[in-house]
Amino acid sequence: MLTSTILIAVNLCSIHVLFGYALTEDGEIPTIARYFGPKGRYEEVNPYLMGDILAVNKSTLQPPSSQCRELYMTAIIRHGTRYPTTKNIKEMHHLYNFTVSNASSEKSRLLEQWNMWYTEDMDGRLVEKGVDELKHLAVRLSKLFPSLISEENLRAGGIRFITSSKHRCVNSTLAFKRGLTELWDIREGEIDHTVNDALMRFFDQCKKFLDDVSDNPNALYEMDEFNVGPEMGRVQEKIADRLGVPYSHITADSVEAAFYLCAYEFAIKTVNSPWCQLLDEVDAQIMEYASDLKQYWKRAYGYEINRKSSCILFHDVFSRLEQTIEDYNSGKPVSEAVTIQIGHAETLLPLLTLLGFFKDSEPLRSENYASQTNRTFRTSLMLPYTANLVLVLYDCGGGELRLQPLLNEKAVDFPGLSSMPLYADVRERYKELLQGCDFETECQLFNKTTEN
Ligand SMILES: *[C@@H]1O[C@H](CO)[C@@H](O)[C@H](O)[C@H]1NC(C)=O
Ligand SMILES: *[C@@H]1O[C@H](CO)[C@@H](O)[C@H](O)[C@H]1NC(C)=O
Ligand SMILES: *[C@@H]1O[C@H](CO)[C@@H](O)[C@H](O)[C@H]1NC(C)=O
Ligand SMILES: *[C@@H]1O[C@H](CO)[C@@H](O)[C@H](O)[C@H]1NC(C)=O
Ligand SMILES: *[C@@H]1O[C@H](CO)[C@@H](O)[C@H](O)[C@H]1NC(C)=O
Repeated sequence: MLTSTILIAVNLCSIHVLFGYALTEDGEIPTIARYFGPKGRYEEVNPYLMGDILAVNKSTLQPPSSQCRELYMTAIIRHGTRYPTTKNIKEMHHLYNFTVSNASSEKSRLLEQWNMWYTEDMDGRLVEKGVDELKHLAVRLSKLFPSLISEENLRAGGIRFITSSKHRCVNSTLAFKRGLTELWDIREGEIDHTVNDALMRFFDQCKKFLDDVSDNPNALYEMDEFNVGPEMGRVQEKIADRLGVPYSHITADSVEAAFYLCAYEFAIKTVNSPWCQLLDEVDAQIMEYASDLKQYWKRAYGYEINRKSSCILFHDVFSRLEQTIEDYNSGKPVSEAVTIQIGHAETLLPLLTLLGFFKDSEPLRSENYASQTNRTFRTSLMLPYTANLVLVLYDCGGGELRLQPLLNEKAVDFPGLSSMPLYADVRERYKELLQGCDFETECQLFNKTTEN
């Protein structure tokens, strides 16, 4: 009895794996693709998109009554897949050169045949696939919310676009717009967007964040300790063995470069490159934790100012909601039905943490890797390229307003609230932030002027 159950389970597993590969057009997926953190593909988070990139899952949206009608939505979206930054490209070249001249294993011969094609001028630009991702996201959101992201609203200027000034964000914004203009055959020049770094790159303008975290060499202490700790040491040794070189020649930087090479080749070209064979699943989980430690201490719960640096965006989101409600209640037409805001992982993560999402009971630290196995703070799931937080305001009849958050196109619950809560309950939940959370005070912008 027991034996046959186990046999069936094993069979089901292998069928699942076979089907998983058969259903994807892009061939084999690296076994470590689920651990790429902010360098991960959006499809890893929503695997149904591999079958149909324009598929939407409407069952995720279940308003409490059939009377519920969408009034307004705001979407805060990370740019699409991009090239590595110059710093990462240098690290990748370094590992590649080292491998070609010094490695001596079976695996390293495959790496020598691989063509190094990254050049430093690629510096974080949006790639072709990133353009497609934003176009596809635009089409999917218009299928999920057809009364808001509609041809009529787009033509009437009821869809507002705000972007960070970074080239990859501006080009992501253009791609999102093109997704819609192509759908409805509208001339592209007719749709405006505004650049607003105060909102979308608040982290550059928050003095306390820059002083205490971003420019503070000790702020990432937990990540630095983890990178010289026993888990990472073991990964370095395994990679050295796989390359056939002495342990001392492989540093934390070389491990990171190998991980990046696998991640970028997959994100940009959808190939399972030979670099992926330098890391197994256990190694990738350790790399994911190192990356999560960085995000946790640099952009999330690690320091209070990380969350508070997003106060300006938080208030902007709520003031748009309030404005919509005011217009609606006074019988005016809602002039802005949709706000599309395009920024960075560094824009989205502080806001998600300010709202209380993905908070574990214990902080992520260098020495608690094992006990954090089941943590909710997992950037691979939260922050792939094109990650998005969408808030949808509904009128459910008789002026009963409700607010539904979606993360990466899946309905989620505000921490501590039921699903699709009353807007009044959301206001109550975030009362303290709504009454305070003043960007200038939190970021100590006034101290700067009084010092002079
Ligand atoms: C669609 O969403 C529902 C509810 O969230 C979920 O149970 C279901 O698995 C999703 N379907 C797909 C194909 O992901
Ligand atoms: C790698 O090798 C190439 C060709 O020998 C050289 O031009 C380049 O500067 C090297 N890069 C690094 C980072 O060592
Ligand atoms: C090869 O290894 C030697 C040390 O044995 C090192 O000095 C040299 O820089 C390495 N070559 C490259 C291209 O990294
Ligand atoms: C952005 O798009 C423009 C026009 O399509 C293109 O010329 C430019 O190279 C792109 N820039 C980046 C950084 O991708
Ligand atoms: C993580 O969850 C799994 C499955 O529920 C459980 O077996 C395991 O003990 C948990 N690990 C930790 C460290 O909490």
